[in-house]
Amino acid sequence: MNFYRVKQFYWSISSKVEDKDKEFINKHLNHSELKLFYKLSKSEQKHSIKVAYDVEYTCKQQNINSSLLIKAALLHDIGKIIKKLSVIDKSIIVMADNITKGSIKRLSKIEKVNVYYNHGKLGCNILEKYSYDKNLLYLIENHHNFEIKGNKELDILRECDDKN
Ligand SMILES: [Fe+2]
Ligand SMILES: [Fe+2]
Repeated sequence: MNFYRVKQFYWSISSKVEDKDKEFINKHLNHSELKLFYKLSKSEQKHSIKVAYDVEYTCKQQNINSSLLIKAALLHDIGKIIKKLSVIDKSIIVMADNITKGSIKRLSKIEKVNVYYNHGKLGCNILEKYSYDKNLLYLIENHHNFEIKGNKELDILRECDDKN
């Protein structure tokens, strides 16, 4: 277990969406996006909000327009609404991934395993129905795809995701 996992575990049991968070998401998501967002587990909601705060801060620092990236941050894990993963599920998958050196990925017929590894693509599929900006879909689809290098927006999203 690395440090971030421990932190994520801690957050997932202590997370609470506060009023100022709600104000923030209301500002950045429209009606149908909010509906999707609230289907995430409480800890995923909190995680996404924190990623979005970090994205906003980073964009301010670097003088980049943040509106698309904040929306992407709030919705980046939306693929997880397909099947909720508990902290225990995630711990089991992480352990199994370590033990099998990643070959557990191939068991994507198991829905929880599929969601864990492919929630970027799954999220993209969900949002495609709402005729989104291609760039937003791209960011969400590839937020765990480390083969793509040199995309500044994707780098910001991934960095902020990792920290939270
Ligand atoms: Fe993710
Ligand atoms: Fe995430």
